[in-house]
Amino acid sequence: MSELIIQSHRGPYRVAFGTPFAGLDAVQPNTAVIVDRRVAELYAKPLATVLATPTTLLIEATEAHKSLERMPEYALHLINSGLKRDWTLVAIGGGIIQDIVCFLAATLLRGLPWRFYPTTLLAQADSCIGSKSSINVGKFKNQLGTFTPPTDIHVSTGVLKTLAEGDVRSGLGEVIKVHVISGWDDVNALSRDYPRLQADPALLEQYVRRSLEIKRLRIEADEFDQGPRLVLNYGHTFGHAIESATAYAVPHGIGVTIGMDFANFVSWKFGLIDRATFDTLHALTFANYGPSGPVVIPEAAFFSALSRDKKNRAGDVALVLLRRPGDVFLDRYPNDERFKDICREFLARVATRAS
Ligand SMILES: NC(=O)c1ccc[n+]([C@@H]2O[C@H](COP(=O)([O-])OP(=O)(O)OC[C@H]3O[C@@H](n4cnc5c(N)ncnc54)[C@H](O)[C@@H]3O)[C@@H](O)[C@H]2O)c1
Ligand SMILES: [Zn+2]
Repeated sequence: MSELIIQSHRGPYRVAFGTPFAGLDAVQPNTAVIVDRRVAELYAKPLATVLATPTTLLIEATEAHKSLERMPEYALHLINSGLKRDWTLVAIGGGIIQDIVCFLAATLLRGLPWRFYPTTLLAQADSCIGSKSSINVGKFKNQLGTFTPPTDIHVSTGVLKTLAEGDVRSGLGEVIKVHVISGWDDVNALSRDYPRLQADPALLEQYVRRSLEIKRLRIEADEFDQGPRLVLNYGHTFGHAIESATAYAVPHGIGVTIGMDFANFVSWKFGLIDRATFDTLHALTFANYGPSGPVVIPEAAFFSALSRDKKNRAGDVALVLLRRPGDVFLDRYPNDERFKDICREFLARVATRAS
């Protein structure tokens, strides 16, 4: 067992690496556990005590269940269970359960501590640190949120073996993202090891840990997303527009992977990177999103979603582009026909390309 300490405005918090569901064989008094329903089914035995505890709440991990409209039901369950100021919430699941529990912990009784057992690769390698909660409002995604870190996080890659293959690649999208943000050494190591990652849990754990270390530098420097942290949006401006234009048929981390290839393509067409850099990064991103098959992204819906991005100002799009791995930056560019032509060229590539 080893750990990583993250500094936050609430003080330091801890990421421990260890065995699945460590410490959950007994449920402490004044604790309410919120569990992903699928994880509860798959891990009924190790979670037997948790699942037999009346305060435990099971939630199906869907975007609809992560909406403001569902919060009263969860809050009432906890209040009816006797919730008081000295209670702690515990989340077991992926990013959806994390967002729900983080939001409840931030708001119920004006703030409760919470602990997290991330069970998806995306949550382990990326979302578990950084303090954010994001809740949907109606059909609008991630519109409501807080900065509320957990007090501690237990990562065990042992629980990832039951994850769907597409969900593993979705998590790998965020792993690729931080490695490109870090630099060539990390990109080259990941490109070399990528084909072995899904079959080698020990190797995967090294990449989970490295991803958190790289992200930690950004969130500790800028927890509230005002400067250095913004580069973590690499792949996300395009990725969110792709997710939205495909009505969320493309999982988040796959949208981000296509979004990074998109950002690299734009960087190449803008003369920021050369063809060889684009090709090297394309090989890595395509290895991750190619198995999802050609992705048809409706053009009008894509441009409409892109121009709604939170970071935009009138007439401009805010893009996270790169000069090289390790030099990823945010800048504003005119949302003009030249830019749109480059986008159309990329959209045509992903709709048809097999490599
Ligand atoms: N707050 C943040 O900082 C942050 C960052 C990134 C993403 N997010 C949010 O996270 C969500 C996506 O999260 P995610 O990719 O972790 O997926 P998820 O929580 O949607 O889970 C994906 C699927 O995997 C299942 N699952 C979870 N653990 C499993 C396991 N061990 N074995 C088998 N199945 C398992 C779930 O039931 C679900 O069907 C999105 O809503 C996104 O907006 C939040
Ligand atoms: Zn993301």
